[in-house]
Amino acid sequence: MRYRFPENFWWGSACSALQTEGDSLNGGKSQTTWDVWFARQPGRFHQGIGPENTSGFYQHWKQDIALLKQLKHNSFRTSLSWSRLIPDGTGEVNPEAVEFYSHVIDELLAQGITPFITLFHFDMPMVMQEKGGWENRDVVAAFCRYAQICFDLFGNRVKHWFTFNEPIVPVEGGYLYDFHYPNVVDFRRAATVAYHTVLAHSLAVRAYRAGSHDGEIGVVLNLTPSYPRSAHPADVKAAHHADLLFNRSFLDPVLKGEYPADLIALLKEYDQLPACQPGDKELIADGKIDLLGINYYQPRRVKCRDSAVNPDAPFMPETLFDYYEMPGRKMNPYRGWEIYEPGIYDIITNLRDHYGNPRCFISENGMGVENEQRFIENGHINDHYRIEFVSEHLKWLHKGISEGCNCLGYHMWTFIDNWSWLNGYKNRYGFVQLDLETQQRTIKQSGKWFANTAEHNGFD
Ligand code: BG6
Repeated sequence: MRYRFPENFWWGSACSALQTEGDSLNGGKSQTTWDVWFARQPGRFHQGIGPENTSGFYQHWKQDIALLKQLKHNSFRTSLSWSRLIPDGTGEVNPEAVEFYSHVIDELLAQGITPFITLFHFDMPMVMQEKGGWENRDVVAAFCRYAQICFDLFGNRVKHWFTFNEPIVPVEGGYLYDFHYPNVVDFRRAATVAYHTVLAHSLAVRAYRAGSHDGEIGVVLNLTPSYPRSAHPADVKAAHHADLLFNRSFLDPVLKGEYPADLIALLKEYDQLPACQPGDKELIADGKIDLLGINYYQPRRVKCRDSAVNPDAPFMPETLFDYYEMPGRKMNPYRGWEIYEPGIYDIITNLRDHYGNPRCFISENGMGVENEQRFIENGHINDHYRIEFVSEHLKWLHKGISEGCNCLGYHMWTFIDNWSWLNGYKNRYGFVQLDLETQQRTIKQSGKWFANTAEHNGFD
């Protein structure tokens, strides 16, 4: 076999609570920011479809785990919902939620599928957002209590924990670019949210270690390698700044236990540093992880700014660089993201060379495509483009692993077509096609290909 992967490689997929569970206001669950935002502004969501309208994992979990088995998964990541487990954010634990998540975890284990559990995947309970969300340190403390409760309830069965999924995304979406609630555009507040998320992560890691649990804890980061337009120092500097803001603002604290000195200097220069308290430095040092999840979808290409900065304009990341469209780039036109397979290799070799080669795995990679029904052949979707997407990324991953990178698995986004935030069901990502009306599930060609690859631990 040409591309054989190391023994015990994790083959699986990822999803999140809010994007799959449905029953978003049943079973004792309280509202997240998404439920509230959707109720207020359904027009911002593709075709007016909100988080109550999903693949219904809350009801169909057993059937879906059977499908994961058919897809030859040996591991699977999903998230717990803070607002389902502790509806008022800080008080009583909801027994229905404990029962639901226990059933899911037990069934995964019974099917030989290792559960990977994320604590927070973009779904802030509204009660916590009303207190200021991540801008408020009390919410940070409440998150740590929630994490501790999860470790105590499920830590005997869950051995792979992740504090956050893509923590930079709620910063970008909620406080810079208006694609998450609370729709603020303010860099200083964004920096505070990012900083407090790192503190929340570190507190949860501390709590996990204090509990002497028998397992490992990490975080899932969306790493977008920053490529400069050219080797000109101005372009290189622009790419470095983008890397500091969007990658290293989380990567360095969780792997090195401290922020990059040049990120601190940069924010200081523009008077954007968040407020620190005594003890924060030690806390961040304690937030070092055992396992890094890497979500990779697209690179970030930048160049130096074409125009001078308006001194009266508020500071934004784009004060420091412009985006650059590489001629001839390969695009996923539905999502508007560049497809650049070598990026996955660049990420893991960078981790090997500059971060001590940490234990890591690809926790998300995938391709959302619109109107996939046009590819139906003999009753199922023949998504050859997705097979090509996955196999091309796997080839680069394989190369990195054969050159010594400590990458332990590959999880696809995602198992079944799911609800994609503002994009609703516009772009479909699954190995399994979902008919939203009938809830019928049909395995796509890519699902068959993946099952075969997982079963043989590689492909030709
Ligand atoms: C990742 C997230 O950013 O990418 C998922 O962890 C998300 O929650 C996925 O669904 C695909 O992005 P999108 O915006 O097309 O759904």
